[in-house]
Amino acid sequence: ALERTFLAIKPDGVQRGLVGEIIRRFETKGFTLVGLKLINVSKELAEQHYDVHRERPFFAGLVEFITSGPVVAMVWQGEGVVASARKIIGATNPLTSEPGTIRGDFGINIGRNLIHGSDAIETAQREIKLWFKDEELVSWTPHL
Ligand code: CMP
Repeated sequence: ALERTFLAIKPDGVQRGLVGEIIRRFETKGFTLVGLKLINVSKELAEQHYDVHRERPFFAGLVEFITSGPVVAMVWQGEGVVASARKIIGATNPLTSEPGTIRGDFGINIGRNLIHGSDAIETAQREIKLWFKDEELVSWTPHL
């Protein structure tokens, strides 16, 4: 089904100059970019985004890291984009993510794993609402 997912290039991805490379992978796959902004993430937004991890030992570090520099927040649309984007991104731990995935090709640190992607359709809906106003999303269909 036609889905939307939330992706965010984390501060390490921006600082390492991987924004273009990462966006290119979703563009060339054929997904449609419907939301895009570069922002400094507030502590409040970071804590809400990572709410499910609140009790984890790495929560404070996670919030500190995601608020440490600009993040590229994106919404992508396409058939099965939620699961497909997760495959393109690769496993959470870059030490085990496959070559060919974003994390497998560029990452070595679980906390600095370059990009976040929604893990399910319901999560995507929650995250899109949290990060974007309706008027920041552009509905369009590529005609190929
Ligand atoms: P992300 O997809 O953004 O969702 C939750 C994040 O928590 C995950 O990517 C990792 O960056 C981070 N994370 C998961 N496990 C650990 C860990 N053991 N230590 C530090 N960070 C972690």
